[in-house]
Amino acid sequence: MSNTALEDFKPSQIQQEEFSRMVSSRRSVRAFLPDPVDQRLISKIFALAASAPSNCNTQPWLPHVVSGAKRDSMRDALMKSIGEGDHQLDFPYEGKYYDVYRQRQLEIGIMRYQAIGVTREDTSGKRQAFLRNLEFFGAPHVAFIFMPDWADIREAVDVGMYAQTLMLSMHAHGISSCPQTILGYNADVVREQLDIDPSEKLLFGISFGYKDKTSPENQVHPSRATLSESTLFYE
Ligand SMILES: Cc1cc2nc3c(=O)[nH]c(=O)nc-3n(C[C@H](O)[C@H](O)[C@H](O)COP(=O)(O)O)c2cc1C
Repeated sequence: MSNTALEDFKPSQIQQEEFSRMVSSRRSVRAFLPDPVDQRLISKIFALAASAPSNCNTQPWLPHVVSGAKRDSMRDALMKSIGEGDHQLDFPYEGKYYDVYRQRQLEIGIMRYQAIGVTREDTSGKRQAFLRNLEFFGAPHVAFIFMPDWADIREAVDVGMYAQTLMLSMHAHGISSCPQTILGYNADVVREQLDIDPSEKLLFGISFGYKDKTSPENQVHPSRATLSESTLFYE
């Protein structure tokens, strides 16, 4: 599409409604079919995601997309390291939340465990659920999202915008995804597996592929705070 055509874009009412449906129907998916996504479609989606905005148009995202045999050896390496408690994060993550944020964290945890029949006392079930992360929830593809080592919180914001644009682009093409902080729990292992320079720092991973619609894991639909709870308007 030409630049003029893009700049003149005026969404019709149907397109607006479809966009609302698309944005609000994206969900983190935690059970995938093994079927791979066509490489041409993957390339198209990643090209589209690069339209995300960034401070001074610096585009500080460095995605590494892993499929096939490489994906399997990455899974094995992550299982061996993170799965056995060997953690080395480029950016510390406490995972401690307070007040309403803690309540929301608890709520999604309960919903997820209930969906797969794991009770509060079931430590083995919880561990299995944790380990499923390291198997990319069965997804045939995973993108590891890095940024340059000079980058800081402002660039992390840019990368977050990129990641959401990426996941929405996937969703628009029938591909599901799950962003995963856990996939950054051992950045050295990921760098080693992909021969990535230490000047690239890992933020998180995104597993993606076709959703397994029958899985109870995918029957979780977390709600959001209402507009009046989250947003203040001034005049
Ligand atoms: C940066 C980021 C990291 C996340 N890390 C994980 C993760 O490690 N494992 C996981 O199962 N979900 C992870 N999630 C998914 C969240 O739990 C999910 O986005 C949230 O519960 C809202 O649900 P929804 O995405 O289905 O709307 C992550 C989400 C984001 C944005």
